[in-house]
Amino acid sequence: MSLLEILKHPDPRLRKKSVTVESVTDAVRQLVDDMFETMYAAPGIGLASTQVNDSRSVVVIDISEDRGQPLCLINPKITDSSGEAAHEEGCLSVPGIYENVTRAEEVTVEALNRDGDHFELKTDGVLAVCIQHELEHLDGKLFVDHLSRLKQQRIRKKMEKQRRETM
Ligand code: NI
Repeated sequence: MSLLEILKHPDPRLRKKSVTVESVTDAVRQLVDDMFETMYAAPGIGLASTQVNDSRSVVVIDISEDRGQPLCLINPKITDSSGEAAHEEGCLSVPGIYENVTRAEEVTVEALNRDGDHFELKTDGVLAVCIQHELEHLDGKLFVDHLSRLKQQRIRKKMEKQRRETM
């Protein structure tokens, strides 16, 4: 396994849309494993392939306290959603920024697992927030896109400053 580089906002590659995985091969499983390792090391509770500059549609999530409940979603699609709730979110691609975002309270998601088997999951709470956040990455969207234009400009400036300071 290996650690992957996580792209940081405003990297334009974070705006690319992912493509459907045709079949879950060993190469895809390698990506899944590397993404889990990268997410746990960061540390974070979710990571989308777009964030590690890979166009294959893959999301990894683990919201458990003991980091022992890995959830892998390949070609995920939200098929149903209901309600509305605001939660504070952060993102490994937008370090140090935490803002409230309003999303659906409950979602149903369909995906393939690491073995290539189809499954459906209906969930709410933090997991529902995380699934919606990560799936947006696959569409080239970031959670900051939900904020006001003024806040987005401030965040962008902050990110550009961080980048200059670490170069
Ligand atoms: Ni994110």
